[in-house]
Amino acid sequence: MDFVLLVLRLLHILGGIFWVGGALAMAFFITPTIMSTAEAGQKFMGHLLTQTKFSRMMTIAALATILAGFILYWIDSAGFTSDWMVAGPGIGFGIGAFFALIGFGAGMMIPRGGAAMAKLAAQFKGAPTPDQQEQMTALVKRQKMISAINAHSLLAAAILMAVARYLRF
Ligand code: HEM
Repeated sequence: MDFVLLVLRLLHILGGIFWVGGALAMAFFITPTIMSTAEAGQKFMGHLLTQTKFSRMMTIAALATILAGFILYWIDSAGFTSDWMVAGPGIGFGIGAFFALIGFGAGMMIPRGGAAMAKLAAQFKGAPTPDQQEQMTALVKRQKMISAINAHSLLAAAILMAVARYLRF
């Protein structure tokens, strides 16, 4: 059992570092850079999200974190039956998991937005027409909002995961 727990914790924590770290870098540094570099940035975003393994690796890390997290929760709560679930740690890990799932849902929408931006940017012949510019502004705004929901939910999940074990109520 110790070995299984060790493997699950490694998968969970290493997956979480990669997933949350990638999402925070994306929301707080890469997306703002894309916003301020106009067409070049939009092409970069499209390439990153559709032509590299970034999205796939993020999905794999997220699924490994979530799956290992649910198994750890199942073990800690003796198969979702013990009082641990309604004490501080159980509630803390549970709310953390809730935020992680919101972050996951938002994260799944990011590549689609990137692909739509890349498709639109590929139609530009020189400067975008006012209509194309309007569509791109709407796409960028949506992408920024989804990225913010993704990053803030994952940050909340990581904070709760870090402190849950020590919550006493
Ligand atoms: C659905 C998603 C998640 C579930 C169900 C979940 C569940 C859990 C559970 C039950 C534990 C306790 C493990 C144990 O007893 O050894 C734990 C620990 C931990 N989780 Fe999560 N987790 C999730 C997402 C995340 C995310 C997104 C992160 C991001 C960094 C994360 C980071 C951690 C860390 C660092 C610990 C170790 C805490 C400690 O040892 O005190 N988890 N998680």
